[in-house]
This record gives sequence, C-alpha cells and structure tokens, in this order.
Amino acid sequence: MEFLDLKTQQKRIRKPLEKRINKILDHGAYIMGPEVFELEEKLADYCGVKHAISCSSGTDALLIPLMAWGVGPGDAVFTTPFTYVATAEVISILGATPVFVDVYESTFNIDCEKLELEIKKVLQEGKLKPKAIIPVDLFGLPARYRMINDIADKYDLKVIEDAAQSFGGSIRGKKVGIFGDVAATSFYPAKPLGCYGDGGAIFTNDDSLAEECKAIRIHGTKTDRYNSERIGLNGRFDSIQAAVVLEKLTIFDEELEMRDIINDNYRKYLNNAQYHPKEYQSAHALFSIVLGSNEKRNTLIDRLQKNKIPSVVYYKFPIHLMKAFEYLGYKKKDFPVSENLSQTIVSLPMHPYLTENHITSIIESLKDNE
Ligand SMILES: Cc1ncc(COP(=O)(O)O)c(C=O)c1O
Repeated sequence: MEFLDLKTQQKRIRKPLEKRINKILDHGAYIMGPEVFELEEKLADYCGVKHAISCSSGTDALLIPLMAWGVGPGDAVFTTPFTYVATAEVISILGATPVFVDVYESTFNIDCEKLELEIKKVLQEGKLKPKAIIPVDLFGLPARYRMINDIADKYDLKVIEDAAQSFGGSIRGKKVGIFGDVAATSFYPAKPLGCYGDGGAIFTNDDSLAEECKAIRIHGTKTDRYNSERIGLNGRFDSIQAAVVLEKLTIFDEELEMRDIINDNYRKYLNNAQYHPKEYQSAHALFSIVLGSNEKRNTLIDRLQKNKIPSVVYYKFPIHLMKAFEYLGYKKKDFPVSENLSQTIVSLPMHPYLTENHITSIIESLKDNE
C-alpha cells in the first residue's frame, strides 16, 4: 500500500501527457511557454479569480506577494507554528518577524481569538508594525476566512492564504483562491494538484498586485527582459510542469470526489480525525488523526509499519521550536495546542486510488492498537 499513489494516476494521463510533452520538445519554449499561459487561464477560471500567476514553487508563491507589498524589517506577519516551514520562512527571508499564533485543537488552523490578542499585543509593545496574516489551510481544510478577514479589516492587515495544501477546497461553495487578498498554492508532486517537479501559483483579484507579482517572478522586469524595474527573483514556471498540471486538471474534480469518499470511509470508523466544519470542503491533501498521547501515537506508527501500512507525522516539530527560528526567542509551552499536536498526530494513507480493502486493513491495524 502506498501513502500516496502517483503511478495509478499517471497511467490515466500518460498518453495525453506524452503528446503535450512532445509538443513542447518540438516548439522548444521550455520556460514560460504557451502551456504556462494556458494553465494560468484554466486555473483562474477554476477558482473564479481574475489572475492566476504560476511560479517556481509554493514557497515563492508566498514570498512574491510579500515582496510586492514591501514587507520587510520592522513588520510583523502573523501565522501558525503548526505548518510546513515554508510559511514562516518566507517572512524571515524578508527580514520581517514571524509572530506565531496557536491553532484550534479541532481544525488545526489558526485560532482567530488568539490571532486578535496577538495583534493587540504587538501594537501595545510598539516594536513591530502588524502588516499581514498568513492563515494556513492545513491538510486541505480552509481556515476561518470570514473571521480572519474581519480582523484584517479592523487592523488594516493584508491576508495571504497559504493554500499549498488546499487547492480544490471550498467554503460555502466558493473555491480556495479568493478568500484573502491573495492566495498561494503549491504544485509539489505530493499536493492534491501536483506536477513532476517544483511549482506553484498565486491567485488574486487585485490588478496592480498581479502586475507586481508577474514582474517579481522574472527578476523585477516588466516590458524589457534586460531592464529590471524592481528587485525580483527567478520565480518562473516551466512548460513541461505546466503540461503535467494541465493534464491532471482534467481529472482533478473526479479525484477530489474520490478523496472525499475515502475521507467518509475513514470517518465511519474513526472519531479522532481533523474536524471539518459544516460547509467547509477540504481538498483532503492529508488524512490525520490525533492519539491520546505521544506513546500511543508512536506505538501505532510501529504497528502500522509492521503491517506494511505507511504513515507520516506532519509535523513533528512546531516551527517555534526549530533551531532556525531560535532567534525569535520562543520557548516550549508557548503554543500548547501546536506542541501537543506535534506529539500526538499521525497522517494515514490518503490518495484517490485507495480501495475499500485498503481502508479496511488500515482500520484493522488501528483497532489492534486499542
Ligand atoms: C503549508 C505549506 N506551505 C508552503 C509550502 C511550500 O510549497 P513548495 O514546497 O511548493 O515550495 C508547502 C509545501 O509543502 C506547504 O505544505
């Protein structure tokens, strides 16, 4: 059994994908070729936003809008410590300060009450200027954007949705991509909509932000490739990866439904999975359960392994306790919910091609643990 089965998926798209790749080999526009622009149009259509701007990774998709807004030293950017490191890293790269906010025990997404308290604290201290919030849609579940946007309006903050794991998810029928000022997704192969390398995309309805992001992804250039108008980076996307995403997009909605069925099947037997609020549709990037203690979690992982069932811990280390972020001065117990989750959570296999038999054998192994 695979934690993630990309081979079965590839069999479905292999022929049309080869055709597309052969076309690229013929036309030779390997970077920012026609497939890249075709994909951008389809992505924008898919989530109902004006601009979809592809780029080199999900990390750059977060970094580029922050650069466009001029986020830098002295600015506070609020996010959670229970996410992939890239979310906080982009803040630090720019010399701004990540200010962590704990997550809800139920959804693992940013706790809005604690977010407002943290913003007030930063304002009271007066050392940093609150600038933006990066809510993370963890494991594919969108964060609470109505509340987050209300808070952002109140304190005049930008919202950048870390939708690396949630592309395809929705709230009340509205697709991920339009909840903040801007959203960033990743096409890393393990993501629900992945390519065969690195890639990402930025989504926004803001014309001038879109123009700045497009410039930043190509070294700050606008009309002349060899005359930079601002500091940018090499954030371009390549045509072969765009072709992969284009082909995967043709089966994406069907795969989302298949993930949804697998999620439902798991939940028939399990009551300790991530809570999905009513009207919130997850993209089911990962299926995670929380055990009663670290010992129980680790025993379970061992047992699964013995039964040849793969599992992964996302995330073993909350970011505030990583060596790279020591300089921020956080310590153990600062974010008890995140810290406890990192000790007790485990992700079970999740992909569209898991069968009922797979689920049955996973559930049997889980029972053995009781
Ligand atoms: C929550 C989150 N943010 C950002 C990223 C960064 O995306 P990438 O690996 O494409 O740079 C990831 C990817 O794993 C992620 O899971």
